[in-house]
Amino acid sequence: MKVKIAVNGYGTIGKRVADAILKQPDMELIGVAKAKPDYAALRAVSLGIPLYVPKDKLSMFQEKGITVAGTIEDMLSKADVVVDALPGGKGVSMKQLYDEYGVKQIYQGGEKASVAERSFSTLCNYEETLGANSLRVVSCNTTGLLRLLCTLRRLYTIESVRVTLIRRAADPKEVKKGPVNAIKLNPPKLPSHHGEDVKTVIGDIDIMTAAVAVPTTLMHVHQVNIRFSERASRDKIIDALTTTPRIIVVNTSLTGIQSTAELSEALRDTGRPRSDMPELAIFEESVTTQGKELMLFQAVHQESIVTPENIDAIRAVTRLAATSDETIRITDETLGLKKGLYFIAGGVG
Ligand SMILES: NC(=O)c1ccc[n+]([C@@H]2O[C@H](COP(=O)([O-])OP(=O)(O)OC[C@H]3O[C@@H](n4cnc5c(N)ncnc54)[C@H](OP(=O)(O)O)[C@@H]3O)[C@@H](O)[C@H]2O)c1
Repeated sequence: MKVKIAVNGYGTIGKRVADAILKQPDMELIGVAKAKPDYAALRAVSLGIPLYVPKDKLSMFQEKGITVAGTIEDMLSKADVVVDALPGGKGVSMKQLYDEYGVKQIYQGGEKASVAERSFSTLCNYEETLGANSLRVVSCNTTGLLRLLCTLRRLYTIESVRVTLIRRAADPKEVKKGPVNAIKLNPPKLPSHHGEDVKTVIGDIDIMTAAVAVPTTLMHVHQVNIRFSERASRDKIIDALTTTPRIIVVNTSLTGIQSTAELSEALRDTGRPRSDMPELAIFEESVTTQGKELMLFQAVHQESIVTPENIDAIRAVTRLAATSDETIRITDETLGLKKGLYFIAGGVG
């Protein structure tokens, strides 16, 4: 028996999660919901995905001749789990309705941590979240940081983490966000919230973050500084990074890739759907150790990095997989995710 999943919100995150659900052997996509009768609604219908809409929007869809399968309530009545991918902060207003329909809930990082029983990151706390009623998949930046930190915590005790996040201004589809010509302190008062978000998953860590937003839509870049309790070995760190799922290590001298533009172009060359990169990309030459300290650069494809974690979160709440290794195996195989050195893996296509 497959678990029945509804996706409420069919934007940047929702459409990717819906597509990923369609590829899972143990899940069935009941339908997706959105509020505007636009190109994305037409795509869902053309793919045969049942489209559900808020009650008060039904006539708007009918007027445009877009076939809808029913209301959001109709969708919830058929589902075991809802993935909420509404704009940040809107998911919490749906919680009561989700509870009324008795569906398990997966929220996104734009919601406050209090929306769900636990914040979630597969490599860090999959086993602790088994059977939860609700989980919150942390944001794209936090997911990238947690993949790195939970990999390194297996090697050494981490004493402190200091990160500067260089954030993309907007997603490629967005027309109203910025900055267009500035480096914006995001926020001016430090630290930024990202460190606190990391602590919603691994509470016992000393972390401070700062962020600026820059005029690009492709990816975020993090400059990470970590201090361990003992002398760190670069070889040991590279070995861990190249063998951990969902991390690709990009070697600049071999690939010529030294920017998000080139990484993005390399992804487009592979023909991956939407040129997505759900893996965290770590730039190998930047990985530098000195005594107990480590510095590196990493890149986060904000639109897709949380897709695999959403699939794993569904398995956690429904106990479809007992361990993180098991869910990672299924998710990564079905989504074609890579690990290892970029040039050895023959690209990431
Ligand atoms: N974008 C990222 O980089 C990113 C990365 C990680 C996490 N997140 C988090 O993921 C969540 C979703 O973000 P997003 O970027 O995917 O947002 P988005 O692209 O704006 O998509 C939001 C979706 O929700 C739909 N929606 C709005 N009101 C609705 C309603 N009343 N009923 C049904 N559907 C409704 C919108 O439909 P219409 O277009 O029809 O209004 C749209 O399909 C947020 O919490 C965000 O913080 C985003």
